Amino acid sequence: MIFILFLIAVSSCLNHLSQSILESMNRADFYQSLNNQLIALLEGQSNWITNLSQFSAFLNMSLEDINWVGFYLTDKPEQLKLGPFQGNVACVDIPFGKGVCGTAAKEKRTLVVEDVDQFSGHIACDARSRSEVVCPIIIDDKTVGVLDIDSPSLKRFDDADGEGLQLLVKTLLERTDWPKA
Ligand code: SME
Repeated sequence: MIFILFLIAVSSCLNHLSQSILESMNRADFYQSLNNQLIALLEGQSNWITNLSQFSAFLNMSLEDINWVGFYLTDKPEQLKLGPFQGNVACVDIPFGKGVCGTAAKEKRTLVVEDVDQFSGHIACDARSRSEVVCPIIIDDKTVGVLDIDSPSLKRFDDADGEGLQLLVKTLLERTDWPKA
């Protein structure tokens, strides 16, 4: 009897693991498809205000279960300022090192936050936000801004989202004339 229970537990773990691997693969395919659509959307356009606006509207249309998507842009050394976005009005100034956005900007790495209440220093611009992903935008080893996406659901994002969004940000950068600092 104990052996059968053990087999059921192992089989359930394996099933869960293979489902997660499958989901990650599907997520990678999903972002690859978004990337192809993004390339078509930005075709012939390089103005940064145009492209960042289109990018945030495009993600707002394409991603489920999100309540905010947009950019914070480095406008002074170590200081982010609100850029093009979709969602409710938001905090305007975020110093590097503060909140999820400022931390991703300072550490130059993508942050996936499963529960914003567990992230010390999280800046609550929209009380509905429960989880968040922030992807830094880096040119010549400098953070020129971040892409920020919030969800009203806990654990909405995982590493597959982080990687997919990095791919989209790379495409955006390749097609956009970014103003010189
Ligand atoms: N929650 C973010 C601030 C930006 S809003 O979510 C739009 C943070 O902690 O950096």
